[in-house]
Amino acid sequence: MDPYGLRRVVSPRGVLPQRADVLDPRLPPGEDELILDVEALNVDSASFRQIEGAAGGDPDRIGAEIARLVAARGKLHNPVTGSGGMLIGRVRQVGPGHPAAGRLRPGDRLATLVSLTLTPLLLTRIDAVRKEIDRVECQGTAILFATGLWALLPEDLPERLALAALDVCGAPALVARHVRPGQKVLVLGAGKSGALVCAQARASLDGRGLVVGADRSAAALEVLAQLELCHRVVEVDATDALGTMERTRQAGGPFDLVVNCASVAGTEMASILSVRDGGTVIFFSMATSFTAAALGAEGVGKDATLLVGNGYVPGHAELTLDLLRRLPRLRALFEQRYVR
Ligand SMILES: NC(=O)c1ccc[n+]([C@@H]2O[C@H](COP(=O)([O-])OP(=O)(O)OC[C@H]3O[C@@H](n4cnc5c(N)ncnc54)[C@H](OP(=O)(O)O)[C@@H]3O)[C@@H](O)[C@H]2O)c1
Repeated sequence: MDPYGLRRVVSPRGVLPQRADVLDPRLPPGEDELILDVEALNVDSASFRQIEGAAGGDPDRIGAEIARLVAARGKLHNPVTGSGGMLIGRVRQVGPGHPAAGRLRPGDRLATLVSLTLTPLLLTRIDAVRKEIDRVECQGTAILFATGLWALLPEDLPERLALAALDVCGAPALVARHVRPGQKVLVLGAGKSGALVCAQARASLDGRGLVVGADRSAAALEVLAQLELCHRVVEVDATDALGTMERTRQAGGPFDLVVNCASVAGTEMASILSVRDGGTVIFFSMATSFTAAALGAEGVGKDATLLVGNGYVPGHAELTLDLLRRLPRLRALFEQRYVR
C-alpha cells in the first residue's frame, strides 16, 4: 500500500507528490489507487491567468502550454504560480485496496478535491479551452491515491454550481464544527466562502446569536443582507486593523468566532483585534501569514485560538452541497455569480 503516492514520484526521490518536480502517471495501477478518465481540468485561477498571459490570450496556445506542462511534469503544476486546480472525470478502475472500493463504480462521475499539483496526469487530447471559466476540456488519465479526496458530482445540481461550492467547502464545514448557539460570529470577506460561512453560521446558531458580515465591497454586503445570510453587515477594509475593530465593535463585537475569508494579505490583525479574549479565529484565507498571526496576537496580548483553515473536514462536500439545496436564495446567488 502507498497511501501518499510515493511510488509515483520520479524526482526528487523521497519527497511527497506535491513537492515533486516530476510524477510518473504511466505505471500500472496500484492496488490502492483510483484511476479516472479525465473530462476537464478546472485550472486554478492564478495559474490560468499566468498561462493565458504568457500565451497572449490565444486558446490554442493556452491548451498547448497546458499539454506541455503536463507532459513534462506528469501533473498540472504551474512552476510560476506553484498552483494547479482540480479535475472532473469518470471512474475507470478502483483498486481493491482503495478506501472507495465497493462504493465507487466504473462510470461514476466525480470531482477531485485534492490539487492537480499532486495528481498524476496523462493527457491524450485537448478538446477545448474555455477562458471564461478557467477550464480545459480534455481526455486523459488521472490517478488518485488512497488519501486523495473526491466528491461525486450531484445529479440534482448543475455541475458548475457544485464545483464553485466544492472549491471552498472546508470553510462552512469548519464553521459547523466550531459555532454554538448563542455565539457572536464575524465573517471577514463576503465572497464565495464568506457567503457559505455566513449561511452555515446562521444555521448553527439555531436562532440564538449574531452573524456579522464584513467586506470592503458595499455591493457584496448588500447581497448578503438582502439574502438574510447574516444579521448585520459592515463595510470595512480588513487591512486596516484598528478601523475594522472599531467598526465591527459597533456592529456587536468583540466576537466569539472570527472567520477570515478575505482574499488579500495583511488582514490577520483585523481578525485578531475583533475576536474576544478566549475566542477563536479561523484563517481560511490563503493570504494568511502564520508569522503575522502568531506574532501579532502575542504583540497585542490577545489570548485567542488561531486555527489554520484546513480545507478538509470530514463530510465537507455534502454539508456544503446541502446548504445550497436547503437555501434556494443562496443557490440563486451562486448560480448568478458562478454558473456561466
Ligand atoms: N483554506 C482552504 O482550504 C481554502 C480553499 C479555497 C480557498 N481558500 C482561500 O479563501 C480565500 C477566499 O476565497 P473565496 O473564493 O471566498 O474568495 P472571493 O470570492 O474572492 O472572496 C473574497 C472576498 O474578500 C473581499 N476582500 C478583499 N480584500 C478585502 C479587504 N481589504 N477588506 C475586506 N474584504 C476584502 C473581496 O472583496 P472584492 O471582491 O472587493 O475584492 C471578496 O468579497 C482565498 O484566499 C482563497 O485562496 C482557502
